[in-house]
Amino acid sequence: MAIDLERRGSIAVVTMNRPEALNAFNNEQLRVLAETFDEIGNDGSIRCVILTGAGERAFAAGADIKEMKDLDGAGGLTFGRLGHRATRSVEELPQPVIAAVNGFALGGGCELALASDIRLASENAVFAQPEVTLGIPPGWGGTQRLTRLVGPGLASELILSGRRVKADEALRIGLVNSVWPLDQLMGEATKLAEVIAANSPLAVRSAKQLVRLAFNGQTIDGLDSEARAFGEAFTMADQKEGMTAFVEKRAAVFADPA
Ligand code: CAA
Repeated sequence: MAIDLERRGSIAVVTMNRPEALNAFNNEQLRVLAETFDEIGNDGSIRCVILTGAGERAFAAGADIKEMKDLDGAGGLTFGRLGHRATRSVEELPQPVIAAVNGFALGGGCELALASDIRLASENAVFAQPEVTLGIPPGWGGTQRLTRLVGPGLASELILSGRRVKADEALRIGLVNSVWPLDQLMGEATKLAEVIAANSPLAVRSAKQLVRLAFNGQTIDGLDSEARAFGEAFTMADQKEGMTAFVEKRAAVFADPA
């Protein structure tokens, strides 16, 4: 699979591109995905990222079952760790990531969407953690991130059964933020990315990290970090520019972070 990185102004579009296998991931592709996100993280001119799949059928169908099936215990551990490295490269990216889920998001595909900050889906999107149907538990963070997102009861049902969730149910349970006709999905994701990209990049980065703290359940630490980050923001030029622009009834112009 290729991992395509396209820059559209201050927005980066990362496309998982192996449509003949519904964008399933092997070892090498996982490594490249993680490196691509590392590269984006070091590029201050990119303010928001959209992650999507090539073709009209799949976001990503998860780990490459054909490659995975012959792994031994040590190989499985290494592959799982690499999956964690890839999902954490998405989750811990300084810039926000919008998953534009354009079809199947199964197993590791669902887990990549869960590691993203915001999920938009097409009407044909289908989510599942079907690992238990393959004799393994979810291995790229699904047990943690799905549970935090939809709650333990529902997450348990989905993870323990492997049941598929279509877009309308995904919207109802909070797994996705909105659902769009397939041909409108990227346009809507781009509009949202543009709104985010027009805001202060430093404040957006700070806010992303703080939301992650709450999401990770470290509420007390999160509140303390929030207070400190809030105070620190007042030492930055962006706070002055943002508030001055509001008072002057004009759009703020924020600099790229160093
Ligand atoms: N790994 C490897 N190849 C895959 C794949 C996967 N995860 N998913 C699809 N493919 C391949 C198929 O083998 C097929 O290839 P061939 O043409 O060479 O046979 C091609 O993609 C098209 O798929 P189908 O013919 O199966 O298409 P379909 O429309 O009949 O079914 C599907 C689509 C329901 C998504 C089905 O392909 C499927 O169930 N795929 C497996 C999904 C899955 O279980 N994912 C979880 C993997 S485990 C995991 O991710 C572990 C983890 O926690 C990280």
